[in-house]
Amino acid sequence: MEKNSPWVGGGSPVGGGGPVGGGSPVRGGGPVGGTGRLAGKVALITGAASGMGAAHARAMAREGAKVAIADIATEAGEQLAAELGSASYHDHDVTDPAAWQGLVVAVEGMHGPIDVLVNNAGIQVRSVGIEADDDEWAKVTGVNQRGVFLGMRAVIPGMAERGGGSVVNVASTAALVGMPGSIPYQASKAAVLGLTRGAAVSYGRNNVRVNAICPGLVVTGMTASASREAVEAMKAQIPLRRDGRPEEVSAAVVFLASDESSYITGVALPIDGGFIAL
Ligand SMILES: NC(=O)c1ccc[n+]([C@@H]2O[C@H](COP(=O)([O-])OP(=O)(O)OC[C@H]3O[C@@H](n4cnc5c(N)ncnc54)[C@H](O)[C@@H]3O)[C@@H](O)[C@H]2O)c1
Repeated sequence: MEKNSPWVGGGSPVGGGGPVGGGSPVRGGGPVGGTGRLAGKVALITGAASGMGAAHARAMAREGAKVAIADIATEAGEQLAAELGSASYHDHDVTDPAAWQGLVVAVEGMHGPIDVLVNNAGIQVRSVGIEADDDEWAKVTGVNQRGVFLGMRAVIPGMAERGGGSVVNVASTAALVGMPGSIPYQASKAAVLGLTRGAAVSYGRNNVRVNAICPGLVVTGMTASASREAVEAMKAQIPLRRDGRPEEVSAAVVFLASDESSYITGVALPIDGGFIAL
């Protein structure tokens, strides 16, 4: 069966989230409602000013982590850091190799050694298939693929030296099954799985765990440019018959970041309502 892609086709922006509740931001600063599953940990999350990354930041702060938000969306990032309390915002483009070292120094200077890296920043060039030009290819693979490599290169050596850490790379169901269109995006996300497995087997002896998550359809700024028809068509193919909520993805990120997943490394975890099981 051909899988639909929410990014193929034009039309009106999709508004709103999934049918089940909505995000409930933590207000008033500091972790509220968590059980300390990430207590004492320092977590660096890229692309965390909005979308799923922001949900991960909230969930990790709620579980007691000190969160560093790295993004290029300054206003939203600063607002979120202020909302979370023990969090910081860092203007950072994941495609800039020189900036990564400075980011690590800044985050560790503020919070202490990085225990968790979530390589979440990602972009999509809508409806671009094999006709993608060189710039589009470079843009998508630059953020989604090279950005993940640069992040791991900057953070993993320190983790290894200190005796461990957890890296969560954000791939996609588009890394696991083919979809029409979005070929550079699919290629970049498949590469994330290669980066994940390679780093996992290389640094397992140092107790650095490296896992990937593969979200399915989650309505965020990224999918807002997809047509309503395309999103509805994809939902109809999902066994759970709905899109996912950012918080449902964050639950997996918290698990993989925490010591609860201490014997899990090198996996690609679908969070997709059963989409790839079809
Ligand atoms: N939304 C989905 O359905 C879906 C499905 C599978 C995977 N994903 C992946 O999940 C991740 C988060 O996606 P989202 O849906 O929350 O998207 P989003 O567009 O809502 O958020 C992406 C964030 O990344 C930031 N960003 C973009 N380029 C950056 C750069 N060069 N450096 C630093 N930050 C940068 C943006 O400013 C934004 O805050 C991405 O890697 C995406 O590919 C999304």
